[in-house]
Amino acid sequence: MVIFKKAEDINAYLLNIRQKGASLGFIPTMGALHKGHISLVEQAHKNGDITVVSIFVNPTQFNDKNDFDNYPSAITEDKMLLEAAGCDIVFIPSVAEVYPESYAKTPVYDFGYLDTILEGAHRPGHFKGVGQVVARLLEIVKPDNLYLGQKDFQQCMVIKDLAKQIPQLHNMHVKICPTLREPDGLAMSSRNRRLTEPERAVANLLYQCLVSIQTKAGLQPFSVVRKECIEILADKGLKPEYVALADASNLALLDEYDTERQMVALIAAFVGDVRLIDNMLLN
Ligand code: PAJ
Repeated sequence: MVIFKKAEDINAYLLNIRQKGASLGFIPTMGALHKGHISLVEQAHKNGDITVVSIFVNPTQFNDKNDFDNYPSAITEDKMLLEAAGCDIVFIPSVAEVYPESYAKTPVYDFGYLDTILEGAHRPGHFKGVGQVVARLLEIVKPDNLYLGQKDFQQCMVIKDLAKQIPQLHNMHVKICPTLREPDGLAMSSRNRRLTEPERAVANLLYQCLVSIQTKAGLQPFSVVRKECIEILADKGLKPEYVALADASNLALLDEYDTERQMVALIAAFVGDVRLIDNMLLN
């Protein structure tokens, strides 16, 4: 496994690999890696890609300073996990490498409707930051395939939209991989490390709510199921930000189940001061 810190160095190394005809699979991350991240590396290997993983906690996508300050970091463990997974190349840049001309001079993209709902509404500026960093990382790595987790459903849609907006990315394939979960259903997340024991014990309620929304599709009005979910979460001390239903193809929000469409249920809640998100495709 080769590790790079400088954009110029990884760029030259990857150019060489590309010239030999290899296919590059890229997995951008913010580190504090878990099996969910590793599953993306494994998927890239299965597809025959040389794998490139980046670890960079991007300051421009954190709307909450507290979340940024407390974002977990475990760089030594991360390297060990990646090595064990057979990852080929790791990129661990500094802020100055990613944003050599300051944040202000790095292009920012507009995601229209997608940035006005759910995560966009609750985390102002978040997707602009995600778009900014992903565009910059893709400019450096220039992968054939980009691997993303369904865990961040809205982020997947934003990045697909980004890839449409940048002509140089039109040949890149975006591969969405399934969400890896703990045995009790809790979606794996770097932020789970910050949960206390009692918080961890109730954190799987997000998953249980999604299962309940899925099971009751077409049997009960969504407004009733949604209300029940919010009550269950609040009862256990969680602070739900949204429990929503949307068309999975465009994220148009739905007031009611519509079994004619591919639907996705999405949820965000604070467990203590840790904000967790999850989602589930319904049909
Ligand atoms: P991060 O939260 O580290 O996630 C990196 C990638 O791992 C994302 O594509 C995410 O959806 C995926 N992932 C996270 N948890 C997962 C799980 N339980 N199962 C499967 N995949 C999972 O998302 C980001 O970083 C950042 O916003 C980034 C795209 C790197 C831009 O800074």
